[in-house]
Amino acid sequence: MKTKIVAVINQKGGTGKTTTTINLGSALSKLGHKVLLLDLDPQSNLSYSLAVSSPDATLAEAFLGSKSMQEILVQKDGIWVAPGSNELVDVEISLVSQPDREKFLKTLLSEVKGFDYVLIDCPPSLSVLTLNALTAAHEVLIPLQMEVLTLQGLDQIMNTINKVQKAFNPKLKIKGIVVVMFDVRRKLSLEVLEYLRENVKEKIFDSQIRLNVKLAEAPSFGKSVLDYDGTSNGAKDYKALAVEFSNA
Ligand SMILES: Nc1ncnc2c1ncn2[C@@H]1O[C@H](COP(=O)(O)OP(=O)(O)O)[C@@H](O)[C@H]1O
Ligand SMILES: [Mg+2]
Repeated sequence: MKTKIVAVINQKGGTGKTTTTINLGSALSKLGHKVLLLDLDPQSNLSYSLAVSSPDATLAEAFLGSKSMQEILVQKDGIWVAPGSNELVDVEISLVSQPDREKFLKTLLSEVKGFDYVLIDCPPSLSVLTLNALTAAHEVLIPLQMEVLTLQGLDQIMNTINKVQKAFNPKLKIKGIVVVMFDVRRKLSLEVLEYLRENVKEKIFDSQIRLNVKLAEAPSFGKSVLDYDGTSNGAKDYKALAVEFSNA
């Protein structure tokens, strides 16, 4: 199987990007796929959540050229991780003045072989780092909460993707929208979902991720929810998503 590079994006913070990257990645790996997660957010929540924080060999060093991708990859519970760090802020600053600044990650990932999926956890902004992710990716996955402002946010994401397709990556596809932190008892959530289904042409995954406290707890144990509590609704929902995702 050719490596599929998927950017998990949403320019807002707290919308389930990191949770989705980790748990979809873990579920894909338990289906037998070889998975690499890239922590491209300077806040490095993904690395922290999987307890792989590493002081001197992170994605920032790979961007800056002092380490190769092979040197920074670490393994955790069957998945591979390229850890992030706050130094990604320095990377961002140094990239801004470089030619081809949006292509660095694409070049770095061309060194990395043998994975079925590379999932990129993006920062909550449309920064040059996010631009790198969108330029390197084959597909985009958008986690969305069912709130009123979700619709406005989605328009902005689509605009950005459009611009990147035109300028840097004409083959970039939208893999789909995954509904996260879904509360079926809330009327507003159901209404927003119905509106989305009627008005958005992109795929909305049938597998929804329900609100589940185990998903919020798992990071303090340094584990995916599948390894923390495999019988929880959070684990069930991400397993179902992984099946649908890998068949889509
Ligand atoms: N389905 C869910 N149920 C309950 N809590 C969730 C769920 N998804 C995410 N969370 C929690 O919501 C917060 C924001 O999620 P996170 O994945 O970090 O968002 P982002 O990476 O987009 O900023 C985190 O504390 C996370 O544990
Ligand atoms: Mg995050």
